[in-house]
Amino acid sequence: MKKPNILIIGSGIAALQLARQIQDQFYVRIITKNKITSSNSYLAQGGIAAPIGKNDRIEDHYLDTLAAGRYHQAEDLVNRLINDGKRVIEALVKEGAPFDKDGDGNLSLGMEGAHSANRILHSGGDQTGKFLVNYLLGTLTNEVDFIEEEMVCELMKDNKGTCCGVKTKNEEGTIRTYYASHVVLATEGIGGLYSSTSNHPSVSGDGMALAFLAGAKLADMEFIQFHPTLLWMNGKTHGLISEAVRGEGATLINDRGERIMENVDPLLELAPRHIVAERIYQQRLAGREVFLDISKIKNFQVKFPSISTLFSEQKISIEKGKIPVSPGCHFMMGGILTDDVGRTNVPGLYAIGEVACSGVHGANRLASNSLLEGLVYGVRLGNYLIEQGENCSNHHLMHVEQKNRKPITHMGFQPHELKERMMKSVGIIRFEDELNTHLNWLKSHPFTLNENIDSASPEQIKIYFMWIVSMLITQSALLRTESRGGHIRSDFPEENNEIWLKRKIILQKQENQLRVKFHEQNETKVYA
Ligand code: SIN
Repeated sequence: MKKPNILIIGSGIAALQLARQIQDQFYVRIITKNKITSSNSYLAQGGIAAPIGKNDRIEDHYLDTLAAGRYHQAEDLVNRLINDGKRVIEALVKEGAPFDKDGDGNLSLGMEGAHSANRILHSGGDQTGKFLVNYLLGTLTNEVDFIEEEMVCELMKDNKGTCCGVKTKNEEGTIRTYYASHVVLATEGIGGLYSSTSNHPSVSGDGMALAFLAGAKLADMEFIQFHPTLLWMNGKTHGLISEAVRGEGATLINDRGERIMENVDPLLELAPRHIVAERIYQQRLAGREVFLDISKIKNFQVKFPSISTLFSEQKISIEKGKIPVSPGCHFMMGGILTDDVGRTNVPGLYAIGEVACSGVHGANRLASNSLLEGLVYGVRLGNYLIEQGENCSNHHLMHVEQKNRKPITHMGFQPHELKERMMKSVGIIRFEDELNTHLNWLKSHPFTLNENIDSASPEQIKIYFMWIVSMLITQSALLRTESRGGHIRSDFPEENNEIWLKRKIILQKQENQLRVKFHEQNETKVYA
């Protein structure tokens, strides 16, 4: 009997883990707008957090995760993530995934910011993403088909409102449609919306825009993590310097030689990321240069081969040990609202990995919990889909074309302009006037939420999607009148538990979900 189809959009860790989980039961098609390995996952230097060390405990990893996320999570989902994560990692270790070991053959477990124990697994030193992606790719059979360099530009729904496929476009402008029993978005985050980012430049929120246009709910779009240490050269950032480098003892100093994290947080350089990033940002705003002092790390090149390559490409001396750094956009905690297996509110449409707001990261993600999330939700959604089997059939007869849509006839703006504005107005530190300036600039462009993308170029579609996601982030940032985790407001500098945490708890009790607000068409509604 012919197997039902699954479409997975995106090719990072969550996508590949799902594909291998379901490949015996489904015919799986992975679609990516780039090459299979052009993902954030592939770039990941830092590793995967799991409480598998002898002196570690599930409860400690759980508490560290809640603290980093500033208690904005759904606690039961965090608990399940850590428990399932431990099992998923143990299974990967058992089947021979290439995790680094120490001289005695034990897994070597590194330290990263805001963790209370050594629990970070790595592969190939600082090449965890690359090694793991290659490992997962090696486990896929011929039942998994890859389509590269086709951008998904629309999610298709049938006359019952069930997502039943996607429309794609390639660089030549050819449109193709693919039908499926289930459609999974695993398109990662939004780093490409900012001028400074650790992300693959193509990762600019497509999945969120697609889902939004298809009627899916999005949440927590204001919570964006800025990584403290991106290499800073010639007025721009040049890739990530993993937190594992600080875990190995690197310190942060300014051009006066002062250790800038002293008297800021008891964890110093290993404080939660938003605290370190804000400190570096403030120092730079005050005219100070900031450096990572790596002089005390022995065997740097052996421990961090890909970072060493980055340094030599930029002609930076490891021996001198002073590496110029600046923060940049790293991870989106919000996204498409999903339940514990990755279902969205649109039947037939799922989201896993960074594109999803699954409720496990809260206001700020604990370092190295993201690959863990991708691996866990890949398995969970896989098991769920296997139970479901085929969702609906003969979609091609049922697909409803949306009428009365006007073709996009303009470019709107150049991507670099949006990225610079996002960095300035919706970046590490935000305030009302600047957020409104950006919102008004966005509104001055004549996009609507009813554009017909068929005749638009891939570049126009990309800009249109960037506009949508930028709008959602800015509206969300305006709405949250407090500072929490990855959302820092200079006009509301404190966490306001009285209003915001209480609101979360009441809503969770009422609705049994994390949903504080969601976006619907061109409006952000607050449900509280
Ligand atoms: C890093 O290596 O610093 C990044 C790891 C992560 O974001 O989880």
